Order: sequence, then structure tokens, then C-alpha cells
Amino acid sequence: MLKNPRLRSLHARFPKRPWIIAHRGASGLVPENTLTAFVLAVEQGADLIELDLRITRDGHLVVLHDAALERTTNGRGFVHDHTLADLHQLDAGYTFTLDGGATFPFRRLGLRIPTFEEVVTTVPQHIGINAEIKSAPWDPADRQRGQVIAEKLVALVQRHLNLRERLLVSSFDAAVLDTVRRLDPELPLGLCTLPIAPLPEQLRSMVECGYDAFHPMDIGFDEHGAAVVNAAHLAGLLVNVWTVDSPERAIELAALGVDGIITDYPEATRLAIERALGAFVQRP
Ligand code: G3P
Ligand code: MG
Repeated sequence: MLKNPRLRSLHARFPKRPWIIAHRGASGLVPENTLTAFVLAVEQGADLIELDLRITRDGHLVVLHDAALERTTNGRGFVHDHTLADLHQLDAGYTFTLDGGATFPFRRLGLRIPTFEEVVTTVPQHIGINAEIKSAPWDPADRQRGQVIAEKLVALVQRHLNLRERLLVSSFDAAVLDTVRRLDPELPLGLCTLPIAPLPEQLRSMVECGYDAFHPMDIGFDEHGAAVVNAAHLAGLLVNVWTVDSPERAIELAALGVDGIITDYPEATRLAIERALGAFVQRP
């Protein structure tokens, strides 16, 4: 892979590919985006964790996927309408079920919506962090919040020096990535995409914009995948595919040479790849 100075630290820390990137933590097994999910992901051998960043009414970075609280907690309304103190009253394990709603085994266990800083200090320093800035490009107000998240994230990187070495910032919103780039040109950036344009076209615009990683949705990762991985590597970009929960598909993607597999099941995915391909080491 072409030398990309912004990726040097991640390449050095995680030489073996593909990286197992735990999507919202080990979110197939325990409530997503909680400290429990991130700790379990680490125990299961994830190389990096992926998490989603949102902002509270009083300006704290918190880790939650949805703009609204209902799907994953016992709260109501939007994250950005609540203070951190409000959010700390909520049960982040409230709605999680593995049996279609017959039982809710994580209710009342004290799981909370974590702050980003709590995750950074909880997850061991040898684990990478893919922080996805939530910002809906079609919603100006949400986009404005995304910009604030970007600014606060960069400020936090200044306070946690070790974070810089293991952080990959991503988003579906190129504007917030551009803000991060302007404020801190050394941080590696990945653009997440939906399959609305052909893969090679997506990669071309990503290279033109100077991003460091391409995060395509697996559903759109089609017959162009192998060529796109090669082209991305020639241009110095990583290709990290989401969300891959089928071990068979993870093995196919690993064989294509993707750099990261973003999965809800880090252990099952890791074991499948190791069994199929051996404990291979693929270096750029
Ligand atoms: O960052 C990859 C993936 O997390 C993007 O989709 O909706 O799960 O945040 P989403
Ligand atoms: Mg995400």
C-alpha cells in the first residue's frame, strides 16, 4: 500500500489484516454502544471498536447510535435535548433482547449511555477506536451538531495523547470530516457510504477528497470489490466494510484483501477468518 503518513500509526499497531472492528462493541450479544459491549469486544479479540458519537444539550460527547432515545433506552426524545445528567438516569440495556422480546436480560443492571471519554479511558490502550461522527447531511440542524462533535473530538484528542495513535474518525457526512481535517490534518478519516453510486465511482471521489479510508456498506460491495480494494491500496486508502455478521461473508471479504471487517460478532468473525485463512499476516 502506498505510504500514507496518517495511517502509519494504525498500520504499525495492527499489522495483521483484516482488522476485526467491533460494531458498536460486541453489539450482537449485549446492548450496543455500552461499556459492557466494548469490554466484551476486547475480550473477544477485536482489534478496534466502532462507536457512534452524538452530543448532549450541555455539550458532552456521548456514545449512542440513534438521534432518539427510544430504540435502545427507556428514555424519550432526542439526545441533543437532554443534559448528560438526564441521560445518566437512563437504562441503556432496557430494550435489548435476544429472544424477540420474551426477556430483557440487561434491564436494571446499571448500563448507561457512556461518554466518549469514558470509553476512551475504559478500553485498553492497545485497542483501536473508530469514532463515527453522527451527522445527517440532509438535516441542517443535525449537521450543525455534527460540526460541534467534530470540534469537540479534536479538542479531546489534544487531551488524550494516546488516542491520536489509535483513532480513526469516520462519518457519512463529508463536511464534518473536512472540519476534522482542517482542525487536525494528521488524523485519519474514513467516509462511510451507502450503495447509491457504483463502488469505483465512490472510491474515486474519496481519493479526490483526500480521505484515508473507505467504509462501504457490505450490501453494495459487489463484483467491483476486488478491483476497488486494489485501487484503494494503491492510493493509500483502507477499505473497511460494514456490517458483516455472516462468517462466510467475512471470509470472502478477507480473501479479497479488505483491511477491516466491521461486525456485531467480533469473536465469531475472528475465529472464522482464522480458521479459514490461518493466522495469516498481510502487510501492505
Ligand atoms: O461505521 C460503520 C457503520 O457503523 C455505519 O452505520 O448506522 O451502524 O452507524 P451505522
Ligand atoms: Mg456507526
